[in-house]
Amino acid sequence: MDDFWDQNSESWIQVVRDQGIPSRAITSPALVETLVQQSARRILDVGCGEGWLAPAIRARLPQSDYLGIDGSPGLIRAAQAAYPEFRFTVLNYAALVSSSTQLEAEPFDAVVFNFSLFERDIENVLTAVKRELRKSSGRLVIQTLPPAHNISELRQEDFKTMSAPFHGKMDWYHLTRADWIKKLEHAGFTLESEQTPQHPETQAELSWILVARTT
Ligand SMILES: C[S@@+](CC[C@H](N)C(=O)[O-])C[C@H]1O[C@@H](n2cnc3c(N)ncnc32)[C@H](O)[C@@H]1O
Repeated sequence: MDDFWDQNSESWIQVVRDQGIPSRAITSPALVETLVQQSARRILDVGCGEGWLAPAIRARLPQSDYLGIDGSPGLIRAAQAAYPEFRFTVLNYAALVSSSTQLEAEPFDAVVFNFSLFERDIENVLTAVKRELRKSSGRLVIQTLPPAHNISELRQEDFKTMSAPFHGKMDWYHLTRADWIKKLEHAGFTLESEQTPQHPETQAELSWILVARTT
């Protein structure tokens, strides 16, 4: 999956930085606010993309310490170039899963996935990031698409509605709420709170933000 992102890194950077996804005007501040409410100091941004969250969170939590990881070398290069005062590392989820050591000596207060958890076997990724969280006070924060209504299913996204050209398709699993919760529990997390940011005029649900603690 990270190949798709590296191949399309230039277009993704352009779309995000030119505000080419209108719903992000709502969903990005909603995520930042969730982290502010957690008073998270050490933040691990998993699948950080071109790195927008680093300065956004620093603006609200000046004492925060951020590490962004992503499987795409192109996106990490762009993140590091745009935000040199923050730390970014190339790391794909498979490497995270197969490693048995923590990324850094000090654990994180929050592990964040912002539209970056699309695999079928998310339990393995979630189990791996649990190791990175501070015991009992650490929180997992996931922003994703609103859950599927009836059944969980494989979908494909070609990003053809975007203002920049994308090549190939991204597979992703649209899970029901029940399946999300089952997978969280299987990985050792309990859902603590959730919200569904909405479009201010149409009230359409734009995303789903979950906050989970370790069980
Ligand atoms: C939709 S983008 C979101 C990027 C960023 N979180 C944001 O909010 O703009 C999904 C990101 O997840 C990363 N990603 C997806 N699957 C991955 C994997 N298996 N290993 C590492 N990174 C992955 C991609 O490289 C991409 O940067």
